[in-house]
Amino acid sequence: MNTHQFIPKILQKKTESLSCTWKTPSNIALVKYWGKTEPQIPKNASISFTLSNSHTITTIDFMSKGNSEANNNDINFEFFFEGKKKEDFKPKIAKFFERILEYCPYLTTYNMVIHSENSFPHSSGIASSASGMSAIAMCLMSLEKSLSSVELTDEFINKKGSFLARLGSGSASRSIEGPLVVWGNHPAIEGSSDLFGVLFPYKVHEVFNNYQDAILLVDKGEKQVSSTVGHDLMHNHPFATQRFQQANENLATISDILQQGDIDLFINLVESEALSLHAMMLTSSPYFILMKPNTLEIINAIWRFRKDTGSKLCFTLDAGANVHVLYPANESENVLQFIDNKLSMFCQKNHYICDVIGLGAVKL
Ligand code: PMV
Repeated sequence: MNTHQFIPKILQKKTESLSCTWKTPSNIALVKYWGKTEPQIPKNASISFTLSNSHTITTIDFMSKGNSEANNNDINFEFFFEGKKKEDFKPKIAKFFERILEYCPYLTTYNMVIHSENSFPHSSGIASSASGMSAIAMCLMSLEKSLSSVELTDEFINKKGSFLARLGSGSASRSIEGPLVVWGNHPAIEGSSDLFGVLFPYKVHEVFNNYQDAILLVDKGEKQVSSTVGHDLMHNHPFATQRFQQANENLATISDILQQGDIDLFINLVESEALSLHAMMLTSSPYFILMKPNTLEIINAIWRFRKDTGSKLCFTLDAGANVHVLYPANESENVLQFIDNKLSMFCQKNHYICDVIGLGAVKL
């Protein structure tokens, strides 16, 4: 695999200090990634809708270290989350920086102060690693751009940004661009790679324009089993081989569905993917369940509503109890009424977030 392209060759310019801010969104997978090998190489390809309202805004202030400064080979940074110093978030970021040092050798020559905030409530149960890691990655790309003697194209910045984000959190590789991003090498998707996410390269049918995602917050607590542990349990999983094959087949199928606009097939595939992901958790050793009783109440209510009204809404799940309700923009009024009347009662404090498909990272 050609990772050489991500090692900067000509860094001659000197930047004493730089402050940059990026806003990057979360994403929701339609075909799920669950299972990986070192270094963050997915066992199957995945595809996601990029979100827009659920995002992270991160500012990094880079200050060049003086020549005489001690610990010159260390990676020095402070991390503030929503204005407060957060020591407990630091180990994950430190590990990320060590992992990408080969590709970002300039990391040791700066002291960094990182300020990060999420648009969604803290501990809302929405995975923040995708938006959080991609925001840091894009800030590093802004520094690299200012140091590079050769002009870095936007295409390269997005590609390397996604490559770096992947090494922080696999799904973060899909948060740089939008509206649809594929991560993982797949014969049906031109240009796809295990190393970074690529924009879905084919024309998408207009029924998917402006697609909506209402995120129903069933459980705002910390997950009992982290994604890292869940991915690891795929190593000796009795159904792993079939699951990776199923996901890759589903990716080829959804590629056609997205182009042809067959929303019934879309619903069927997306819901089956969500349940297959959770089936892997139920059949891991040790087994675990991330869905809650209210997750199932919501799923059943969605099925009833679809049967009774002919609505085209459907659900998907992340590695957690919250339910993403996906629906076409022209159904917004009816679906929001349905959520208020029949689903919000299953959410903690009746809380849900209205989101919509977006275009990815933005420099502020
Ligand atoms: O990026 P990670 O390591 O947190 O894994 C995320 C996996 C899922 O969210 C469950 C599925 C996906 O493809 O986003």
